[in-house]
Amino acid sequence: VKPVDMVLTGGRVVNEDGIVDASIAVDGGRIVAIGDERLMPPARERIALDGLHVLPGAIDVHVHFREPGMPQKEDWATGSAAAAVGGVTTVFDMPNTIPPTDSVENFQLKLGAAKSKSIVDFGLYGLLGEHNLGDLEALAEAGVIGYKLFLGNTTGDLPCPSDGAVLEGFEILAGLGLRCSIHAENSPILFWRQNKLKAAGRDDVLAHLAARTDVVAVEALNRAATLADWTGARIHIVHESCARSLPFIRFWKERGVDMTVETLPQYLYLSAEMMLNPGGEVLRMNPPIREAAHQEPLWAALADGTIDMIATDHAPHAIEEKYGPRIWDLACGFPGVETSMALMLTAVADGRLSLERVATITSGAPARAFGLYGRKGAIRIGADADLAVVDLNRSATLSAAALHSRGKVSAYEGKEVKGVPVMTFVRGRMVAKDGEVVAEKGWGELVRPNMAPPAPRNLNTTMKAILEPGQRPWG
Ligand code: NCD
Ligand code: ZN
Ligand code: ZN
Repeated sequence: VKPVDMVLTGGRVVNEDGIVDASIAVDGGRIVAIGDERLMPPARERIALDGLHVLPGAIDVHVHFREPGMPQKEDWATGSAAAAVGGVTTVFDMPNTIPPTDSVENFQLKLGAAKSKSIVDFGLYGLLGEHNLGDLEALAEAGVIGYKLFLGNTTGDLPCPSDGAVLEGFEILAGLGLRCSIHAENSPILFWRQNKLKAAGRDDVLAHLAARTDVVAVEALNRAATLADWTGARIHIVHESCARSLPFIRFWKERGVDMTVETLPQYLYLSAEMMLNPGGEVLRMNPPIREAAHQEPLWAALADGTIDMIATDHAPHAIEEKYGPRIWDLACGFPGVETSMALMLTAVADGRLSLERVATITSGAPARAFGLYGRKGAIRIGADADLAVVDLNRSATLSAAALHSRGKVSAYEGKEVKGVPVMTFVRGRMVAKDGEVVAEKGWGELVRPNMAPPAPRNLNTTMKAILEPGQRPWG
């Protein structure tokens, strides 16, 4: 028999539907057998896992790797190194780079950088902006994983499209069937409040949350869902931070809106109260980290499926941009792709989540939402051998100094975690081991979505239908 590339022996294989003791055979980057060690084919390489758990590699649908345009914050080499060390095998990069990913030309620019440097697989978002509605279809053909709509102002100051442009954008996306990830905050409200706070001399750490109080998120979520309901566009709510959004999420899902939702470890573990500690201003991000009372409802929603998945909003900045006396002067966001898996495994150790649920929220659910399931999202025959080997018994202390990201800032300095990724494989190649990168730059490949057929609604009222020659609104 011809030997296969690799067999991982003696691991405990974790999928969404259960955990089995099994070996995994890999050939040509795919999983070719799962089962008893004695049934495995001969292999060129054997790695003994000795009871370590193997999860499907995490898919982080929300990172900012900053290239092109902001290499002082991050690039595809440092960002993907951080991902690999963290057990993340696929990332989706956000379009608020310089230039923004708003045209095929700018998509190709980012693709070139990612291809030459990334060691993990990647999807690239296209921007949905008021100025580029005419580019959306070509971006789909070029291979975007989905689109990103910034309803609320944030890093990069991309202008929030008018509601008219958003509706027309959704009409177009509903026809394409790709998912639109949405930063759901109401821009006019947050600017109004921010300006009043500034005028009143408020520049303390809590002024940021005061400007972006809960209704800023709740209103934008419901507006986006209303337009998705009308058009049939598929949407994904990024960085859900607010317990008061949860009943509305349940309502829209029950109504049949094709909506998925992510939250972030920082909304589960951190609170606005912590911003009052020395250096607490580092937690400034959008949407803001809210009062501690939001944490328990968010944990419960992540466990019960109201929230579908965990992402990181990995948003590195230079250290000097993150600390200072006036909150308005500080950059928003901080790194996360490297620590998310350990924080979710710690939730398992704490009895908050089952290990199977971790496989869902880190891999299965993102793969399903963005048309990658089968190829990724599960440990099964025929799937890419994207694997995160974790040691549930190993503890570690999180610290900024240990990060591979260029943004050497930690929101979790000194936090103890229990359960850490120890080996990461992308399509059968080991890319990280014991916290160090072991792959050459450029192993990562673009992933393209394979979505269910589009399901557009209200087609007779779209701008395209109305402007068709001979059309009448009542016709
Ligand atoms: C993100 C960034 O820095 O790109 N910052 C943040 O506070 N979350 C942008 C974003 O996700 O809104
Ligand atoms: Zn955002
Ligand atoms: Zn983000």
